[in-house]
Amino acid sequence: MNSITTQIFTDDTADLKGAAGVLSLGGLVAFPTETVYGLGVDARNSDAVARLYQAKGRPSFNPLIVHVASLEIAETLVEFDDTARALAQAFWPGALTLVLPLRPDAGISPLVTAGLETLAVRVPDHPVANGLMVAFDGPIAAPSANPSGQVSATKCAHVQSQLSGRIDGIVDGGDCGVGLESTIVATLPVPTLLRAGGLPAEALEGALGERLALAGDSAAPSSPGQLASHYAPKGTVRLNAVDVEDGETLLGFGAVDAAVNLSPSGDLVEAAATLFDALHQLNALGADRIAVSPIPDHGLGRAINDRLRRAAAPRSGAAT
Ligand code: TXA
Ligand code: MG
Repeated sequence: MNSITTQIFTDDTADLKGAAGVLSLGGLVAFPTETVYGLGVDARNSDAVARLYQAKGRPSFNPLIVHVASLEIAETLVEFDDTARALAQAFWPGALTLVLPLRPDAGISPLVTAGLETLAVRVPDHPVANGLMVAFDGPIAAPSANPSGQVSATKCAHVQSQLSGRIDGIVDGGDCGVGLESTIVATLPVPTLLRAGGLPAEALEGALGERLALAGDSAAPSSPGQLASHYAPKGTVRLNAVDVEDGETLLGFGAVDAAVNLSPSGDLVEAAATLFDALHQLNALGADRIAVSPIPDHGLGRAINDRLRRAAAPRSGAAT
């Protein structure tokens, strides 16, 4: 693909209008959300969505999340059942994506859903994402702003290093606070966790008063994007390392002597916010064998371990 100029926008109102104008013309603009940076396009414009898949090198069967400014706008795109509406009211804006039946009159490009009859929607909790959505005044389809299969971006510099020359713009809105992608839930036929993420499953289960089914359970729907190898740093990854072998670089958690530490105090919220930047730092250090300290598998630890397992998986069949 020929290199294009990637314009950097600030988060002031005039720049957000400029970035929205680029989206209106079918351009690709990365922007911050509270989870990770997204790579946005007009969700109604199939040419733009096709360019997005090309810029990411993403398998086109893998559908996109549509970002909107409010539950009211989401209701014009998908059909909410009572459970979905209760979850949206409890957790939006926030790190929750709902997969719901697509309304026939939604006007969303079929490339966004990759031909599925459901659509993934969320209302992000970030003033810059919100300002961009208000300025654009339409649905923004946005996968994470990284080349397919590589590490997600939580800073403008991560997007620049991975996608400059392939996208039209980046809105620099600083670091993402949560640092892990949204938690994805489908409510039909049963409430199901499709992807662990920045909103702990325990919080959702508390609000629902029941356990979430897991993708792969008999009644549960599946998510097409959950391929094994994803979030891959340049080096190989060994998990649950209680010692460090010769030639390995330690990605630590807790009070260990590590080249990069997710949270020296063992705080899972801090570790989530640091995870992707830590993997970018290990790439910059040239780490070719990465050992990772054990991480507790509850709360945000569940999503951190999910990302690390995919980072450690054999590198065939890249994902989003
Ligand atoms: O936090 C996030 O969710 C970020 C920010 C930018 O919002 N976005 C993000 O998008 O992580 P992406 O494209 O990297 O991951 C979206 C996931 C994929 O695994 C995809 O398969 C799944 O959502 N997905 C999208 N539409 C779906 C659908 N209709 N049914 C099931 N899974 C769906
Ligand atoms: Mg992704």
